[in-house]
Amino acid sequence: MFTLAIIVGTDRPNSKSHLMAEYVQGLYSERGVDAQLFSMADFPLGSVVGGPYGKDLPEIEAFQRPILSCDAILFVIPEYNGSFPGVLKVFIDYLPFPEAFKAMPIAYIGISAGAFGSLRAVEQFQMVANYRNAFSYPERVFVSRFNSNFSAETGLTVPLQQELLISQTNGFIDFVQRMQ
Ligand SMILES: Cc1cc2nc3c(=O)[nH]c(=O)nc-3n(C[C@H](O)[C@H](O)[C@H](O)COP(=O)(O)O)c2cc1C
Repeated sequence: MFTLAIIVGTDRPNSKSHLMAEYVQGLYSERGVDAQLFSMADFPLGSVVGGPYGKDLPEIEAFQRPILSCDAILFVIPEYNGSFPGVLKVFIDYLPFPEAFKAMPIAYIGISAGAFGSLRAVEQFQMVANYRNAFSYPERVFVSRFNSNFSAETGLTVPLQQELLISQTNGFIDFVQRMQ
């Protein structure tokens, strides 16, 4: 089929985004996609202290390489202060420019503790991904009140939300295959 990088968009220990990413990895694997999990918790932040933009950074490159060699990317993005986590912007700012996301199919899931399901975070992140010439998949999933709306075994506890997640999963697989 194809390879998919599922990215946990935070470095927070025990993050809920990580649980969501693991659940979604199962959905893609069941459908024959080679879905690999990457977390911003493993981004080598220490390598960018001092702002070495444009320099050869082997640890950063080693983190980026398996992600960028996938055929598609799915970001799981938590809402932090009405936006996406800063570590995710640092990750973007060290990607090879301009080619990293060019024509890369990208899908988005937002999660939040609060009422808005990371809508703002995903929309802000999409502006950046679109600037970097990604092909953003239009069907997005937003999960508010994550603690009560998610089960690690069965997924999203509100039936309509689970339907939307399955619809995104099936639709994104079709989207990526059409682009190949
Ligand atoms: C620094 C920080 C800022 C946050 N800001 C918001 C926010 O603006 N709105 C919201 O609904 N939840 C906010 N949260 C709660 C997260 O949405 C919550 O932790 C959720 O579980 C997803 O993030 P996680 O993957 O870190 O667990 C914030 C959490 C942190 C750590």
